[in-house]
Amino acid sequence: MKKFGHPIYLLSVGLTFATTTFLSCQKEEETAHAPAKTHHLAADWAPSDPELILGKKIYDAECALCHDHGEEQSPKLGKEKEWAHRKTQPVDVIIKKAIDGFLGEDGEMPARGGSDYLTDEEVAAAVKFMLATPTH
Ligand code: HEC
Repeated sequence: MKKFGHPIYLLSVGLTFATTTFLSCQKEEETAHAPAKTHHLAADWAPSDPELILGKKIYDAECALCHDHGEEQSPKLGKEKEWAHRKTQPVDVIIKKAIDGFLGEDGEMPARGGSDYLTDEEVAAAVKFMLATPTH
């Protein structure tokens, strides 16, 4: 009698793949290192971490039009009282909300800031940059 691909074998291949994919999505580390001095303007702040440098580039190109000046009731970059309550959420949750978009108490954050071509990593980097920006 011949057997073609045992079902248990196929199942375990499937599971290994699913687990690997799942784990790679979980690898969001906390890279937000805010400098000790918080007196300069948010716009003048230049991060040194490569992910945050990418995040700043994405932010300037795609997110600043709303978040620099609080357009559409968005939380303004660097404004302590507009970010403090948001920062109590886990970073991954905030990133997911920025990727998927959400309707909050203040207004609507469009999915990926309305820039569909941004990858998850790019949106995550922009969010981390926003969270790491010194507030006042
Ligand atoms: C069209 C305007 C607009 C653009 C562009 C925009 N946002 Fe927003 N964003 C909002 C608004 C409005 C809110 C506030 C929603 C609320 O809490 O009611 C918000 C909230 C957020 C928050 C806070 C999430 C939370 O959990 O409180 C983050 C982070 C964020 N945006 C990231 C981004 C990123 C990253 C980009 C660029 C890729 C971006 N936004 C582009 C309007 C915008």
